Amino acid sequence: MHDDRAALKQQVKDASDIADVVGRYISLRPLGPTFKGICPFHDDHRPSFDVDPRRQRYRCWSCGKHGDVFDFVQEFEKISFPEALELLARQAGISLEKIQKKPTGPSRAGMLDVMRWAAEQFRECYFEAPEAAMARKYLGERKLTGETVRAFGLGYAPGTGGWLVQRALIAKISADMLETVGLIAKRNEGSGYYDRFRDRVIFPIRDIQSRTVGFGGRILPSSPVSADRPPPKYYNSAETSLFSKSDLLYGIDAARQAAGKAGYLAIVEGYTDVLMAHQHGVGQVVATMGTALNARHIKKLRGVSSRVVLVFDADAGGDAGVDRALEVFVTHDLDLRIATLPEGLDPCDLLVARGPEPFRLALEQAVDVFEYKLQRAWAKHAANGVDGKRLAAEEMLGIMAMSPSESSVKTDLMVNRIAQRLSIKEETVWTRLKELRANRKTSESREAPRPAAVASSTVPPVSEPQTARAARHEIELLELLLAEPALVPGAVAEIPPTDVEHPGLRKVIEALYSLHAEGQPPDLDHLQPRLDNVRVWDKCRELYDRGLDYPDRRFTFQKVLARFRERSMERRKQAILTQLQGAVDESTNLDLLRQLRDLTSRGSH
Ligand code: CTP
Ligand code: MN
Repeated sequence: MHDDRAALKQQVKDASDIADVVGRYISLRPLGPTFKGICPFHDDHRPSFDVDPRRQRYRCWSCGKHGDVFDFVQEFEKISFPEALELLARQAGISLEKIQKKPTGPSRAGMLDVMRWAAEQFRECYFEAPEAAMARKYLGERKLTGETVRAFGLGYAPGTGGWLVQRALIAKISADMLETVGLIAKRNEGSGYYDRFRDRVIFPIRDIQSRTVGFGGRILPSSPVSADRPPPKYYNSAETSLFSKSDLLYGIDAARQAAGKAGYLAIVEGYTDVLMAHQHGVGQVVATMGTALNARHIKKLRGVSSRVVLVFDADAGGDAGVDRALEVFVTHDLDLRIATLPEGLDPCDLLVARGPEPFRLALEQAVDVFEYKLQRAWAKHAANGVDGKRLAAEEMLGIMAMSPSESSVKTDLMVNRIAQRLSIKEETVWTRLKELRANRKTSESREAPRPAAVASSTVPPVSEPQTARAARHEIELLELLLAEPALVPGAVAEIPPTDVEHPGLRKVIEALYSLHAEGQPPDLDHLQPRLDNVRVWDKCRELYDRGLDYPDRRFTFQKVLARFRERSMERRKQAILTQLQGAVDESTNLDLLRQLRDLTSRGSH
């Protein structure tokens, strides 16, 4: 048994040349007998990453990461050794019979298989089925050519509701697996499943190796709209270990080569922008999946290019997007620029209206993000004279203070530039930056979850305020409220914000409650301007998306309310028990015991 495994490992290793495998993830250039690339494991700027085919090993001379082909795949994909083995075995066409299946959860390779299968179903349907006529007409009207549609593997999911379920049955694909990846869902009453994507154009979302890891589905304009609430324009398959919206870049596989040639990678906002750019021969273009650029994106694109040009839809990206970009720039070694498009068009519209040249020009004239933000901040406050300078500096420093690094050459340069451009003394700028950093640290420790009165397994570790996990029912509450604002009044009546223990979620709840109190719709659109933090906004989008997945939100809401009631009861009991321990006289004791009994009997009803 043990020998079998070792032999299999060797066999897979022999069949997986390290330069081939690593080259699927990052761009490598031959240099003598070895290959060089940008290290994907740290903030690398010049190629420090060495792959040596003779020894079948890699090493980064800067961060020290090294190992064999298995180590690389494990580290890059964040998976275990058995998973890496299975993945490489499949890619090398080696039979997996000898690999013992773990009984828990679907494997990565299995999920990839089902995604490939599904993409093929949608694609075939788009090109061949009569019911896809409207979808074909729609993409035609959007001026997407058949070639583009094919290259990106677009498809169509019919509106009947049981189409994919039926196909899976015929192909003997497990419904469990399809449910896990978010393509079908269990029916609420009765038995069986229904398709989650109905009457939508399907955009397969692929990783850097062109493997489909998820789907986006766009509603057709001709799609019948239910009376109460319009469905979301875009809809995604489930977040799984394969598919994580906040670190995927749509089109990255197709953009790699062109990015190498252009010397930069451009990031736009929408799928259609990517398609249209490629169609017009501007291939170095990818899109985030509706979330702002973040550290995890940087990790993914580092192997492709160290210069990135962000393209915001005119104004829509707004201050939040620019601030977030500056934050990323401050904390990462990355050449980050911002491009503005003429005439307030988004890339897709611009390309359709005026061809590739104005778009390409805008990309080439992109401005360094620091400079861009500085100009913008100054323009905003310029009318206020001396005070305006202070305010502009304050805006810049507020973002720079987010960076944990105390001081670096880069910080020096930025401080120097702020001082120069706003004619403020450099010393003053430094002092203020240090103050803001200190403030930030104390406010973070204040935000850290206090040890709650009730001992509970859900109390997060105090030492990790940033990653503190919220209790399940608190997350569910927000998922439900964001996806179904009509539930907010019910929550206001039943759950005081103080019952929400997670400080971040509590803030969002408070914002929703105050919208409601002011007679405004407590929905995402109205919430956005009240959130001062892009990270929180990203989180809300994610929660909203997941909220849409509940088959019956009102039903789940009742369960969540019950859980909150339980928790509040537990807290009160615990408080009484604590008092009991401290109680000295008989009558107090008796009184507390009575209260406890009342609580318990009420709780059991
Ligand atoms: N998005 C999303 N969910 C929504 C709306 C948008 O996930 N309800 C994400 C999608 O990734 C989308 C991107 O945000 O591609 C940009 O949104 P938008 O500009 O509205 O979409 P486009 O791709 O430009 O789509 P279209 O041109 O078809 O309207
Ligand atoms: Mn758009």
